[in-house]
Amino acid sequence: MVRRCIAFTRTNMFVGVYCGPQPRERCVSRRAVVSAAAAVAVGTVLGPETVCARRANTQAEYDDASTKYDALDDGPAAQALQFPQMRAVLLARAKGRVLELGVGTGLNLPYYAFGTGHVTNLTGADLSQGMLAQAAMRARALGLNADGKVEFVQADATDMSPVIGSNSFDTIVETFALCVMSDPGAVLREAHRIIRKSDDSRLLILDHTRSSWPLLGTYQDITEPAVTRLSKQCRWNLRIPDLLRENGWSIVAIQSALAGTVVTIEARPSL
Ligand SMILES: C[S@@+](CC[C@H](N)C(=O)[O-])C[C@H]1O[C@@H](n2cnc3c(N)ncnc32)[C@H](O)[C@@H]1O
Repeated sequence: MVRRCIAFTRTNMFVGVYCGPQPRERCVSRRAVVSAAAAVAVGTVLGPETVCARRANTQAEYDDASTKYDALDDGPAAQALQFPQMRAVLLARAKGRVLELGVGTGLNLPYYAFGTGHVTNLTGADLSQGMLAQAAMRARALGLNADGKVEFVQADATDMSPVIGSNSFDTIVETFALCVMSDPGAVLREAHRIIRKSDDSRLLILDHTRSSWPLLGTYQDITEPAVTRLSKQCRWNLRIPDLLRENGWSIVAIQSALAGTVVTIEARPSL
């Protein structure tokens, strides 16, 4: 517990540095950011943490965690929960030009159907350089980026307009990343801008969500602040189906697992 608090203090030290120089900044005032950082640093739960402070926390935390990420998030617990199987089933539906948001260390890379021609190109985007470096190493090990079909970009999924044009991808993928992103509604609106507007374009999601089992959902709400702090910013009680409908997406298929706390969704842009 003591080690955890020290880590948080160190992470939050970076908040002012990251927020200041970013172009196209939509953050609240630096004073609010600094007070958010100070509050989290002393281990308190702040009211509404600012989006910018949260994003800066996330970036620093994932840079720190990048070399250890796979041991935990692809370790025995993830295997026991059948996450690799869920990834495989979801990603078999990816086709054409694919954008993966919050690609992380590239745990999904082995599941894309490049050989069959289903997937023609893959762009992996992430906020964290550390995570992207791991993903690039994995792609090399799998022999995927030899012909330029796979590329990685550092970008904030809430606004990728500097690097990614509108109507440019057939499939957008996110797995266990929306729960971590500072403003999931903005991410879904940005994904809507980026996807090609067509009946067969797809957003493919595998993520934590609030269970529809009342007691379990309430438990997730109560424990959310602690879980977020202890699990690299993951809010496990987001209402992902609602967020999709509110931000321009129609759900085509949905499947719940683990008592409704994990969901697989196939959505298309509401035209
Ligand atoms: C829990 S990891 C999931 C990684 C990967 N998708 C997987 O399934 O293993 C969340 C990832 O989202 C990234 N991330 C968080 N906020 C982001 C943002 N606003 N824009 C882009 N990436 C972000 C983090 O850096 C991290 O790599």
